[in-house]
Amino acid sequence: MEALLLGTGLLLGAYVLIYYNLVKAPQCGGIGSLRGRTAVVTGANSGIGKMTALELARRGARVVLACRSRERGEAAAFDLRQDSGNNEVIFMALDLASLASVRAFAAAFLSSEPRLDILIHNAGISSCGRTREAFNLLLRVNHVGPFLLTHLLLPRLKTCTPSRVVVVSSAAHRRGRLDFTRLDRPVVGWQQELRAYADSKLANVLFIRELATRLEGTGVTCYAAHPGPVNSELFLRHVPGWLRPLLCPLAWLVLRTPKGGAQTPLYCALQESIEPFSGRYFANCHVEEVPPAARDDRVAHRLWEASMKLAGLGAEEEDEPDEEPHLEDLRTLSALSTPNPKELTVSEPSSPGPQRSPDFSKVTRRIQVKAEPEPQVS
Ligand SMILES: NC(=O)c1ccc[n+]([C@@H]2O[C@H](COP(=O)([O-])OP(=O)(O)OC[C@H]3O[C@@H](n4cnc5c(N)ncnc54)[C@H](OP(=O)(O)O)[C@@H]3O)[C@@H](O)[C@H]2O)c1
Repeated sequence: MEALLLGTGLLLGAYVLIYYNLVKAPQCGGIGSLRGRTAVVTGANSGIGKMTALELARRGARVVLACRSRERGEAAAFDLRQDSGNNEVIFMALDLASLASVRAFAAAFLSSEPRLDILIHNAGISSCGRTREAFNLLLRVNHVGPFLLTHLLLPRLKTCTPSRVVVVSSAAHRRGRLDFTRLDRPVVGWQQELRAYADSKLANVLFIRELATRLEGTGVTCYAAHPGPVNSELFLRHVPGWLRPLLCPLAWLVLRTPKGGAQTPLYCALQESIEPFSGRYFANCHVEEVPPAARDDRVAHRLWEASMKLAGLGAEEEDEPDEEPHLEDLRTLSALSTPNPKELTVSEPSSPGPQRSPDFSKVTRRIQVKAEPEPQVS
């Protein structure tokens, strides 16, 4: 009997420790009203992305849910309009596995949305599932697609400063190791997938680091956020059916809710006065130190160059064009680059009217070792 009581006490104690250290998430504060501002959240039809979009909508932002499935994206937009009481939640099609789809999304967005204040790269995959591509699908969806999207939307972010870019990374970046000789090789088998996932999350951290350097002084700041261990479909959807009844209750006990997971990305998007920490990695609503591999400016620069190639961006697209592209060009581009032009449309178009086409103003390049402020932000 005594042994039973002792065992129960130890189990409870262990759970309390796990709960307070892993499961319980600090609440994000930050700017209360987002009225008049526009946010894009990728992969917002489920999990952390949906909860992130809900909070932004509750605070009054116009929220664009950038999702790959029209059905799931429109269903989520409907739910979020109901739950937030904010009608300015719309769906736009974006498949990060397809560079053409990323370009089409950007063209459609730039031609219909006058503002972009917050860009949250939340969408991600942990496995290729049954898909067999001739490239590294995990890197494409988790890093290259977001890299290209940021590049294409940057002109709009720059006209809406102060604006922010947040990439939902992961603590898994600590296990990442970028091998530039095989960066885009197809990934086969679960071991390669685990490695590729960690590598892609390391790429997120290095991308944000380099982006911050290039954006210094523009009024656009950027952050990498770790949501914590979250009870979502990210890993569970790849678990065999027979194992689910065992794993689901355990996941419910020891993992955060998606709402808890949304707190750090929201913190990075909304917290006042964190601009000096642009380029840094946040977890539990705190800035956190990353391992040497994730703060190597030379590797970050090399990754940027490699990503330019993988995203199909030429050097000329980094330079200031002689002329600004016209709205008609953007429409043509979107029609040409979308496999199914119908997928471009928004679920509930409001009518902000055609906007000035974006200025592809040159991003200043300064490669330097950054002096990092001490991680003291609360
Ligand atoms: N869960 C965790 O413990 C954890 C921990 C650390 C970091 N994260 C990161 O948090 C982010 C959100 O994950 P989650 O846990 O909320 O998982 P989730 O529920 O599976 O959400 C992932 C979202 O990404 C979307 N997506 C997948 N492939 C896409 C593509 N090709 N184009 C556009 N969207 C795509 C999914 O859309 P569909 O519904 O159409 O598949 C879904 O909406 C991910 O970046 C993940 O790496 C999660």
